[in-house]
Amino acid sequence: MARHKKLFLVLVLPASLGFLAILPWAGSSGEYHVGGTLVCYDCHTIHFSQAHQWGSSNPVSTLPAPGGNWLPTSGPNTHLLKAPPNTLCLACHDGQNFAPDVLGPNANSYVRQAGALNDTVGTAPYETWKGHTLDMTATPPGGVSTITLTCLQCHNKHGSASYRNLTGAIPVTYTKGEQYASRTKTVDVWLKQWNQGDLPGNYAYDSVRFNEPNPINGAYADFCQGCHVAFHGPVGGNAIGGNLGTGGFLRHPNAQVNIGAINDGAHSSIAQYNAGTTRVHVMSNSSTDYLANPGNGTFTAGDGLTPTCFSCHKAHGNANPFGLIFLGQNAAVVTEEGGYNAGQTHDVGTGLRNLCVQCHTQAN
Ligand code: HEC
Ligand code: HEC
Ligand code: HEC
Ligand code: HEC
Ligand code: HEC
Ligand code: HEC
Repeated sequence: MARHKKLFLVLVLPASLGFLAILPWAGSSGEYHVGGTLVCYDCHTIHFSQAHQWGSSNPVSTLPAPGGNWLPTSGPNTHLLKAPPNTLCLACHDGQNFAPDVLGPNANSYVRQAGALNDTVGTAPYETWKGHTLDMTATPPGGVSTITLTCLQCHNKHGSASYRNLTGAIPVTYTKGEQYASRTKTVDVWLKQWNQGDLPGNYAYDSVRFNEPNPINGAYADFCQGCHVAFHGPVGGNAIGGNLGTGGFLRHPNAQVNIGAINDGAHSSIAQYNAGTTRVHVMSNSSTDYLANPGNGTFTAGDGLTPTCFSCHKAHGNANPFGLIFLGQNAAVVTEEGGYNAGQTHDVGTGLRNLCVQCHTQAN
C-alpha cells in the first residue's frame, strides 16, 4: 500500500498538475487503475504461476489483495487475466474492506453513491429487477443492440479521463479535495477527496456533489444515454420533446430544464425542493452553491438547479424496483434506498410518491 502511494505521488501528481496548469477547468482522470495506480499485477499474471510475493515471503496468497500479491486457483485465463472479467473485478469489489463493495449488500458501512449491482442469481433484496444485473444479456431499455452486462462496458479497465474511470465519448469531469464553497464549478462532479483506503470519504453519497457546467446538457446523462439512447436529449427533440416556456414534455427531462423555471409551482416547484431537509442530488449551475450540506439552502428558480438520472436512480441499483431512490423530504435516516418520513408506510407507492414530491406539488 505504501508503495502504491509513493508511485502515485511521483508519477501521477506532477502529470496532473502540468495538465491542470494548461487546462484549469479540466478535472483529473480516475483515481485508481489509472496512471501510477494502474498496477498491472492487480489483474494480470504473466505465467499464471507465482511462487512467492513481490517481497520474499511465500507462498503467494489466493486471497485477492491490491498490489498484485495474489493468484487465484483457477486459470490461466484469456488476456493473461487472473480471472475472467466480472469475476476478476468482483474478487476485490465484493465483500472486501480494501476496495468499494459494489455487489449486493455493502461489507463497508457507508451509503454508497453508486448503490448496489445485482447478478442473475438475484438474491433478495437485490433481485434482477432492482438495477443493473451483471452477466444479464438484454437490450438496454431505450437502446438498440443486445449486450451482456459487465463492469467493462461502463468502466475502462485501464483507466480513463473520466470520473470513476467511466467509459463514454464525453468525459465526466471532476475535481477532488477542494473546499466546497470555493470549488471549481466548471466541472461535472465535486468529489470531496480521494485518499486510498478511506472508502467513505472517497465513495459515500455525501462525498459527491454535481454541477451543470453546460446549462443545456449534462455529461452524466450523456453517459447513461450511451446505452439508453431514447431516454435523454435536448428539449424539443424526439426523446424529451416539450418546450422551455410551456413544458409539455414527452419524457422526463434530465438536463436543461431547471426546477421551478416554468411558471414556478405549476410544473415543478423550487419552494417544494427547498422545503425538504433530506433532498435528492441535483446539478447546480455554474454560479450557484447548493447543498453544501444536503438539505440546507433556499433557492430560487433562477438559481438553476436541475434533476438528472442520479436524482432518481442509483447508477448500480439498490433494493428498490428500477434502482429508484425513494427519499422522503424529512427522512429520519438516509439509506441507499432513500428513506421514509416518520410514520409513513414502507411501500413502493409511498416511496415513489416521496421521490416525485421532492420537486412537485401535484401530490398535495
Ligand atoms: C483493473 C484490472 C486491470 C489492470 C490493473 C490492468 N489490466 Fe490489462 N486488461 C484488463 C482486462 C479485464 C482486460 C481484457 C478486456 C477484455 O476482455 O476485453 C485487459 C486487457 C489487456 C491487454 C489486451 C489488449 C486490451 O487492451 O484489451 C493488454 C495488452 C493489457 N491488458 C495490458 C495491461 C498492462 C500493461 C497493465 C498495467 C500497466 C494492465 N493491463 C493493467 C484488466 C486490467
Ligand atoms: C486486486 C484488487 C482489485 C481488482 C482485481 C480490481 N480492483 Fe478496482 N479498485 C481496487 C482498489 C484497491 C481501489 C481503490 C480503493 C480506495 O479508494 O481505497 C479500486 C478502485 C476502483 C474504482 C474507483 C476508481 C476511482 O477513480 O474512484 C473503480 C471504478 C474500479 N476499482 C473498478 C474496477 C474494475 C472495473 C475492475 C475489473 C476490471 C477492478 N476494479 C478490479 C482494487 C481492485
Ligand atoms: C453499457 C450500457 C449501459 C449503460 C452505460 C447504462 N445502462 Fe442501464 N441498463 C443496461 C442494460 C443492458 C439494462 C437491462 C439489463 C439490466 O437490468 O441490468 C439496463 C437497465 C437499466 C435500468 C432498469 C433496471 C431494472 O432492474 O429494471 C435502469 C433504471 C438503468 N439501466 C439506468 C441507468 C442509468 C441511470 C445509467 C447511467 C448511470 C445507465 N443505466 C447506464 C445497460 C446500460
Ligand atoms: C451500467 C453501468 C455500470 C456498470 C455495469 C458498473 N458500473 Fe460501477 N459505476 C457506474 C457509474 C455511473 C458510477 C458513478 C456513480 C455516481 O457517482 O453517481 C459507478 C461507480 C463505481 C464505483 C465507485 C463506488 C461508488 O459507490 O460510487 C466503483 C468502485 C465501481 N463503480 C466499480 C464497478 C465494478 C467493479 C463493476 C462490475 C462488477 C461495475 N462498477 C459495474 C456505472 C457502472
Ligand atoms: C424524475 C425521476 C427520473 C429521472 C430523472 C430518470 N428516471 Fe429512469 N425511471 C424513473 C421511473 C419512475 C422509472 C419506472 C418506469 C417509468 O415510470 O417509466 C424509471 C425507469 C427507468 C428505466 C427502466 C425502463 C424499462 O423499460 O424498464 C431505465 C433504463 C431508466 N429509468 C434510465 C434512466 C436514465 C438513463 C436516466 C437519465 C438519462 C433516467 N432514467 C432519469 C425515474 C426517473
Ligand atoms: C429533483 C427534482 C425532480 C424530481 C425528483 C422529479 N421531477 Fe418531474 N420535473 C422536474 C423538472 C425540473 C421538470 C421539468 C420542468 C418543469 O416541468 O417544471 C419536471 C417535469 C415533469 C413532468 C412534465 C411536466 C410537463 O410540463 O410536461 C412530469 C409529468 C413530471 N416531472 C413528473 C414527475 C414524477 C412522476 C416524478 C417522480 C417519479 C418526478 N417528476 C420527479 C423535477 C423533478
